[in-house]
Amino acid sequence: MVHLDYCWKSLPNLAEVSLDIGKDEADRLLEAVKDQGEIFSEPNNIEINEKEVAALQPVFSNLKTRPGFVLLRAEAGFNDDELRRLYAFISRTIGKLNQRYGYFFDVVDQGLNYTKEAIPVSKTKASTGYHTDSTAKDYVPDVVGLLCLNAGYKGGESLVTNAANAYEMLKKRFPECLNELEKSIIRDVITPGSEYNREAILRNAFPIYNKENNEFLFRYMRYWIESAHSKTGFPISSLLIQGMDAIDDFFSKEENTVRFKMQRGDMLFLNNRFLCHNRSAFEDHPSVGRRMMVRTWINFENSPE
Ligand SMILES: [Fe+2]
Repeated sequence: MVHLDYCWKSLPNLAEVSLDIGKDEADRLLEAVKDQGEIFSEPNNIEINEKEVAALQPVFSNLKTRPGFVLLRAEAGFNDDELRRLYAFISRTIGKLNQRYGYFFDVVDQGLNYTKEAIPVSKTKASTGYHTDSTAKDYVPDVVGLLCLNAGYKGGESLVTNAANAYEMLKKRFPECLNELEKSIIRDVITPGSEYNREAILRNAFPIYNKENNEFLFRYMRYWIESAHSKTGFPISSLLIQGMDAIDDFFSKEENTVRFKMQRGDMLFLNNRFLCHNRSAFEDHPSVGRRMMVRTWINFENSPE
């Protein structure tokens, strides 16, 4: 599929990608996993009955191509365990869950600083910058899921933008940069359990835009690209910097970005192959508790990776 098939023709409006899950529907879905204890420990063993999730199908067809994301909003009144269970089941209906950080990774501020040590930004309260998930050469989640259990106090908004639209802009305005972005580019190594030496970083190289095998794949996080170059001393080309400036400039424009704040019970699923996302910085507050999201990495059953 060529990149034009993924481009947004106009900025999606939140209402058109949202689906409310009422109490009856949620109860019905929860009933389907009631006796399936392994939903959290072995989610990929859960069998999906197509009929049970038929109501969700139109939503998931939006994940493979534009608009590329859906926001499911569960009615108020469910406790954390019920929301987690519902989210786990819905994630499993999309595809296979990945276990690199645990099938269900709690995204909370752990008081860490990603500029001081090589840790994922998901363990901090900082703005993440526009990025796609996973900096490991050998693994790309097709879909990133996020469940909101606590929206937190200030900030922490979600921003979603489209790398296929950015590709179109680059092709027209910066074709020489696009050529550079399609070459292999080194990234820092941050996945737990990986080796953190110079050779490992030099091996962890892949393009920002990859159109091999008639697939469209965008993999980006500027911070880890720059830290890989500074740690290894490998020179960063001016065309690469210019290309990343053009991408960041495009993503930062309001007319190219869907911006919203997730509320408790919201489940966001977004395509991680052609969409790019960001989270604004946030603050926790004792009276409202810590901002708490649960992340999943999902691959379609017939994923090209
Ligand atoms: Fe992310």
